[in-house]
Amino acid sequence: MSRADLTLLPEWQALQQHCNHLETLHLRELFAADPKRGERLATEAVGLYFDYSKQRVDDEALRLLRALAQARDLPGHIAAMFRGDKINATENRAVLHVALRAPRDAHILVDGHDVVPDVHAVLDRMTAFADAVRSGAWKGHSGKPMRNVVSIGIGGSDLGPVMACEALRDYSRSDMTFRFVSNVDGTDFAEAVRDLDAAETLFIVCSKTFTTLETLSNAHAARAWCVAALGDERAVAKHFVAVSTAAAEVEKFGIDTAQMFGFWDWVGGRYSMDSAIGLSTMLAIGPEHFRAMLAGFHAMDEHFRSAPFERNLPVLMGLLGLWNANFLGAATVAVLPYEQYLKRFPAYLQQLTMESNGKHVTLDGAHVDYATGPIYWGEPGTNGQHSFYQLIHQGTHLIPCDFIGFGQPLQPVPAQGGGDQHDLLIANLIAQGEALAFGKTAEQVRNEGTPEALVPHRTFEGNRPSSTILAERLTPFALGTLVALYEHSVFVQGAIWDIDSFDQWGVELGKQLAKTTIAELVAPTEPKLAHDSSTNALIRRYRALRDGKPTSERA
Ligand code: F6P
Repeated sequence: MSRADLTLLPEWQALQQHCNHLETLHLRELFAADPKRGERLATEAVGLYFDYSKQRVDDEALRLLRALAQARDLPGHIAAMFRGDKINATENRAVLHVALRAPRDAHILVDGHDVVPDVHAVLDRMTAFADAVRSGAWKGHSGKPMRNVVSIGIGGSDLGPVMACEALRDYSRSDMTFRFVSNVDGTDFAEAVRDLDAAETLFIVCSKTFTTLETLSNAHAARAWCVAALGDERAVAKHFVAVSTAAAEVEKFGIDTAQMFGFWDWVGGRYSMDSAIGLSTMLAIGPEHFRAMLAGFHAMDEHFRSAPFERNLPVLMGLLGLWNANFLGAATVAVLPYEQYLKRFPAYLQQLTMESNGKHVTLDGAHVDYATGPIYWGEPGTNGQHSFYQLIHQGTHLIPCDFIGFGQPLQPVPAQGGGDQHDLLIANLIAQGEALAFGKTAEQVRNEGTPEALVPHRTFEGNRPSSTILAERLTPFALGTLVALYEHSVFVQGAIWDIDSFDQWGVELGKQLAKTTIAELVAPTEPKLAHDSSTNALIRRYRALRDGKPTSERA
């Protein structure tokens, strides 16, 4: 049997059969049959409490899911990743983000070379640089200390630092400004620097390849802005550093490689926030907090590597996601942090999950006949409750939810009538999971005196699955554990689906076509267009709109 034949495995077929049975049961019945379900189907590790009792599973489904993981040799896959095997097959690369947070005395070999000392050498250089900038010892071209940091990057070279800087803002230097520029839309750059003094601004250009169109365009714009303001090309030396794996490209751009912080091809872009790509995070929160975040990642790595599947958080989360996607037919997952500082967490997870598992062929190129990575999206609670939750509660799509909350607020604000607003926040988190699972029956609605015509509208079917993750407080350590939890759950699913979770060929075609299109947009006279009729018409229309042609002359 080929690895592609996932759906022919006895474990898969048993899951399918069991799902047919479970689909006849409501979460109300599952809870009624087992008064301890809420405690039994919950587990805790490295400071995260994970309640999955409101998922539509029972012990047998969980047993079969673990059996499926064994049948797909998940333990072998985990060992291969941690060992540094080249599991990113289509790019022939090891996948070792776990090495980025390994302690100094660990040993991880890639092609016989121990990469851990390299990781710590870069961390030490980052630390020295961060200390120099934060203390004011690092001076700009005109002798002023740096008060503003602008990180330029996109995708994995942006989303992680953006998310982490926002998540850990309470631990950050409040007397420094941190901005991020990613979009090739000039507005992004212009707005980021509008109120900054170039003499006090440090640019960090982050790009694994240092060839990404958006990042290089913005880096050139930044250099022009800086040189124009400071009146000297030599200012670049004090106002620009690079983070990349591509020293030659960095040099070509004009940044001295002595001011480059490196990482390695075995770090995927979307798994790089704890490499030198996190330099802006380190500048914001300081080296000690950054290392605490790495310790959180590492704690989850060790848990993932060693805990039995029954209480292994990333394994459970990955398997439950697979169950929802492949057996209950859920096409999306909503990530709902009840923590304002995590407002960019869903955006960060979108790249992590969808660039990793948005694949339609197996490792050996066979077309899959099962769903792979679901669509991730979300917003912080309680805001989402007043916009899209309606559809989650009463719509026709099944949307499993991940609720994330903390016991202690970072910003306590007394609530009217006693307590803290944080209690209100978490009351909402807990209530949403309860409402989704149990709903409200027509009988309950009627008993409230609701007119008969409104009963169907006010009935909540319930039986909508969710998991809840609770931690004590949003610390750098806790953030590390949370991100690593999702990283490894993506890995679990990719291993079972037999896809390459670490390549991203799907982003290439659009990039290539844009190169042709840009030439057609900027040509002084309209070139001969050989696209389809829609693309041709859009190119003509854009040129006419841009050039302010009268309506009659537009295509
Ligand atoms: O286009 C997708 C992508 O390659 C991502 O995988 C990556 O995180 C992003 O672009 C940025 O790439 P780079 O760090 O090389 O600029």
